[in-house]
Amino acid sequence: MNSLFPTYQRFPIELVKGIGTRVIDQSGNEYLDFTSGIGVTSFGHGNSRIKAAVLQQLSNIWHTSNLFESSLQEDVAKKLIPDGSYAVYFANSGAEANEAALKLARKATGRDGIVSFQNSFHGRTFGAMTATGQPKIRDGFGSLLPHFTCGAYNDGSRLTELITGETAAVILEIIQGEGGVQPAETAWLLAVAHQAKQTGALLIVDEIQTGIGRTGKKFAYQHSSLEPDIITVAKALGNGLPVGAMLGKKTLVESFGYGSHGSTFGGNPVSLSAASIVLDLLHEPGFLEEVQAKGDYFRAALAQNIAKSPHVETVRGEGLMLGIVMKEPIKTQIRELQKQGLLVLTAGKTKQVVRILPPLTVSYDEIDQAVAILEDTLLSVKIGE
Ligand SMILES: Cc1ncc(COP(=O)(O)O)c(C=O)c1O
Repeated sequence: MNSLFPTYQRFPIELVKGIGTRVIDQSGNEYLDFTSGIGVTSFGHGNSRIKAAVLQQLSNIWHTSNLFESSLQEDVAKKLIPDGSYAVYFANSGAEANEAALKLARKATGRDGIVSFQNSFHGRTFGAMTATGQPKIRDGFGSLLPHFTCGAYNDGSRLTELITGETAAVILEIIQGEGGVQPAETAWLLAVAHQAKQTGALLIVDEIQTGIGRTGKKFAYQHSSLEPDIITVAKALGNGLPVGAMLGKKTLVESFGYGSHGSTFGGNPVSLSAASIVLDLLHEPGFLEEVQAKGDYFRAALAQNIAKSPHVETVRGEGLMLGIVMKEPIKTQIRELQKQGLLVLTAGKTKQVVRILPPLTVSYDEIDQAVAILEDTLLSVKIGE
């Protein structure tokens, strides 16, 4: 792969076909895909209903630009927020959705300050990168945006110093995904929301990894009584077709008027034809309860079979966003798991967390198979090899 910038360290596997939870590589080896393309193919590879809608859209029109009406955008916006309490701006990715959120917050409040948290991940564009609380993501790119402050996640002790009358917005993840499948404590979330409200700062919840059903709720903040001003989503919204969205409370609509922001491809018909069916599938009666039930089952199996290992610190997460926190970095184990037919991710500052994001459509039988491979590999391979 000499023609590409080596921005990714790639595994020596090329995936050429996907069906449901299963993917097949160029040599015909089959794997259980418990990465979902980093939390994207939540409704399974090659989902037939999504495929039919996309093929239909391809046969109608591929691109129109945002200079023309789009009933498809209206339709997906309504499905994202059925009660109409938020307006939607469509982007192409998570970073773009966050970029829109940060711009909207500054415009609506007339303030500059942005507060984010250590170990967070919000994307690679300048605004999203400046908000990202990981030096390894930010280093080497010169001056970042001014007036961004980074606080300690799950630490309520200094919130009054952190979030002030100069703060336009606070941005946070309900479970830090790249940061190590690290859930926020509800009391801390509510304290942050309270301080934001007291000071007139907007609360941006980055649901790019946690949203669209991943944790057993449509949005992960719905596990608490939080009421974000802005929500960002991407990843699973298109089940693999690129789309992101920024959802802002209706009171913010005036601040994002004509000409204030835009994107050539944002909300393109092909991606939105997928998003429309994704949201239909998500809203099917019992679907989210089933995600929660499968997550509980998976977590209990991990706790029973894997947490007992001396190499394992803990198992954490919510719904089908799970992390096995190991005592040491786990690169070799990830390769070993691949050889046994299971694809998972790493996460955390020192890559000590096995991050597990299966499709939400995963079967109990596939969960059992994954647990057996994880048990076999994580308990037998020597750490640090
Ligand atoms: C929480 C969160 N925010 C933002 C992003 C950036 O999304 P994208 O890669 O689509 O720009 C990611 C991607 O991993 C993410 O997990």
